[in-house]
Amino acid sequence: MDDAELQILKQRAPGLAALYTTAHDAILRAADAAALEQARVSTLGRKSALTELLRSIPTLPPEDRPLLGKGGNTVRRELEALVEEREAELKREALSASLAHERLDVTLPGQPFPAGHEHLISQTMREVEDIFIGLGYRIAEGPEVELDYYNFTALNTPPSHPARSAHDTFWVVEQRETMPEAVMDADRGVLLRTHTSPVQVRVMEQQRPPVYVVCLGKVYRRDSDATHTPMFHQVEGLVVDEGITLADLKGTVHHFTEQFFGGERAIRVRPHFFPFTEPSIEVDVSCELCEGKGCRSCKHSGWLEIMGAGMVDPAVYDFVGYDPEKVSGFAFGMGVERMAMLKHGIPDLRLFYDNDVRFLRQF
Ligand code: DAH
Repeated sequence: MDDAELQILKQRAPGLAALYTTAHDAILRAADAAALEQARVSTLGRKSALTELLRSIPTLPPEDRPLLGKGGNTVRRELEALVEEREAELKREALSASLAHERLDVTLPGQPFPAGHEHLISQTMREVEDIFIGLGYRIAEGPEVELDYYNFTALNTPPSHPARSAHDTFWVVEQRETMPEAVMDADRGVLLRTHTSPVQVRVMEQQRPPVYVVCLGKVYRRDSDATHTPMFHQVEGLVVDEGITLADLKGTVHHFTEQFFGGERAIRVRPHFFPFTEPSIEVDVSCELCEGKGCRSCKHSGWLEIMGAGMVDPAVYDFVGYDPEKVSGFAFGMGVERMAMLKHGIPDLRLFYDNDVRFLRQF
């Protein structure tokens, strides 16, 4: 109903016009769905003034009936439409309010998620890797479940060799020591590698010299006490090229200890025995705690043993078809746990595997 129509209604039927304006205001003022329903019932419901007026038309004088009947129905239709409009409007308002309220700011920082970090043993392996990569070495890998052939035989340690018994091997498919040697097919024995040295043979089988590789990984021995865990980690190095001598080995080890321990450390070389190197040596680094004077941690010697090494035994080259007249090389092996203990002053090997975060968080 526009203004002009309302004016006419006011003149002709002021009661109806007043009723219309009151109802109109009540509907528009309804602030939510419940209030609107209340306004609808009171203005259009069965007991509303408007319904009563429409119901009373038959009783009115005949000349008033057309005007009030027609006007009353118009007013009812208009108010009904107004209720619908207001209802839609309230829904729209509720929606945009909830959108504004529930809006997600995707640029806000998220819930912090506690991130862990690498285990000290992994960190130590990465450090060692980095130092040798810096010297131009390649990283090599090999299986932890290994053949007897690679773990022992091809490293110049035949089935009857006494050095095998020092390794406390976990056998997967045992080769029977009691069998006569002729029957024993040692190469088929399967074991958990007792050292990373079998990777040397695997690398040499797959490439010709020059070879400059390091291999880092897990090894296993049937051993468990204060200074041994059944699983531990080793770093293996192998160099084969023309004209390689023990001096190259010493120079490499010296560079490595300087980089790893950070600063000049004296090294010392002692003769030793390994089946796959000739000559074989053990390398010691000077004890930093007592500056070489001797203390409890170096057993009063002033030196700490860090690795076994030597010149690759020509017998090993026979297994991989290298010519010992043309090439020579060195190999070394060291324990990662031991390196980490020496570097960080960790007193007990078992701390690495207790998984106590108070220990692990310190590194
Ligand atoms: N494989 C030896 C061990 O586990 C360590 C070792 C010694 C590795 C001398 C070498 C080496 O490569 O040349 O006791």
